[in-house]
Amino acid sequence: MKTPFSNTLDQLAPSGIRRFFDMILDSKDIVSLGIGEPDFSTPKSIINRVKKTLDEGRTSYTSNTGMIELREEIAKYMQKKLKCSYDPKDEVFITMGVSEGADLTLRAILNPGDEVIFPEPGYVCYPPLITLAGGKVVSVDTTKTNFIPTADIIKEKTTPNTKAIVLCTPNNPTGTVIPTNTLKEIAQLAKKHDFWVITDEIYAEIIFDNYQYDTIASFEGMKERTLVLSGFSKAFAMTGWRLGYICGPKEFIERALKIHQYSALCAPIMSQYAAIEALQNGLGDVERMRLAYEERRNLLIGGLRSIGIEVIKPEGAFYCFPSIKGTGLTSEEFSVKLLQQEKCAVIPGNGFGQAGEGYVRCCFASSNANIEEALIRIEKFYKSIKKGDTHA
Ligand SMILES: Cc1ncc(COP(=O)(O)O)c(C=O)c1O
Repeated sequence: MKTPFSNTLDQLAPSGIRRFFDMILDSKDIVSLGIGEPDFSTPKSIINRVKKTLDEGRTSYTSNTGMIELREEIAKYMQKKLKCSYDPKDEVFITMGVSEGADLTLRAILNPGDEVIFPEPGYVCYPPLITLAGGKVVSVDTTKTNFIPTADIIKEKTTPNTKAIVLCTPNNPTGTVIPTNTLKEIAQLAKKHDFWVITDEIYAEIIFDNYQYDTIASFEGMKERTLVLSGFSKAFAMTGWRLGYICGPKEFIERALKIHQYSALCAPIMSQYAAIEALQNGLGDVERMRLAYEERRNLLIGGLRSIGIEVIKPEGAFYCFPSIKGTGLTSEEFSVKLLQQEKCAVIPGNGFGQAGEGYVRCCFASSNANIEEALIRIEKFYKSIKKGDTHA
């Protein structure tokens, strides 16, 4: 074999996050603000409902697009929460997590050479998936606009080859929510230059301080060019169930289905039952967890600021993205030394794109006691850098 493997894969760098986690896996006594997943387990009512369906022997394949009962629940939810009306028959599509949804979406719309605008720092999966789908990643640096992808900075990167933009609100890794006015300006741009908007709203249920939350899909003329990706992993503490969905125009769903029906067939039926229960009876649990995240956010932000670390207060999700530029260390050096000296894990910001250099991601989906201990360790480390006695 002259070329045993796909040449495209040689263009992809391994995930910075994964690489970092491999480093900490074997270490003991680590206090982690690292991995981005709820520390809660899935609410009991969801688990009990699934146990019951298993006892009833419901273990088959489902329709390729997912169970109609679930698609109906999602359509109701989208209408009630986001004022967006989708036909459950052909505008809602069940995927194996937002991860599969993102892959299908990009593969369904991109042709070789199409450009996709990607605000950075941003969620790690998008640049590699754009490349795998034959597209070209066009990064937009949001660090000078408080991590908001404003219409002005997007406009600068728009060309006749722009096929789509990826928005993520609230954002991973910054926790920023895109303000409604900015969304309206981006919508104007998308209509004027005729491109798709892919909007990853997996954290839409985790919003703090009653911050106004809107989806760009709800604005006039946007439903037909917006692909909403969402799922159950974060808000419902269901990362292991691997369940998500896409809402979008029928013509798009038909294309995405062509890939999914051959590569996946359908999402697991147990997880689909879990999602039905989540939407019917789980929103109270979501609120309980959201309140806990809000309290933890306040604890972490207050603590970081009192150490003298600059950080923007996130309006949603469970991440903050403090600047470590004052230390003179790179993101990677800061994270590795903090881990080695104080056994405290954060994620280097450059894993979220070059614009993330000079920052680290801290996840506050962790107990108050853990966050307090992490703050003690970060402060000790910070003081040691200021004195210039970090270990080489
Ligand atoms: C913005 C964003 N989208 C998608 C995902 C993956 O979601 P899922 O578990 O539904 O595949 C994550 C996970 O961290 C995320 O942060």
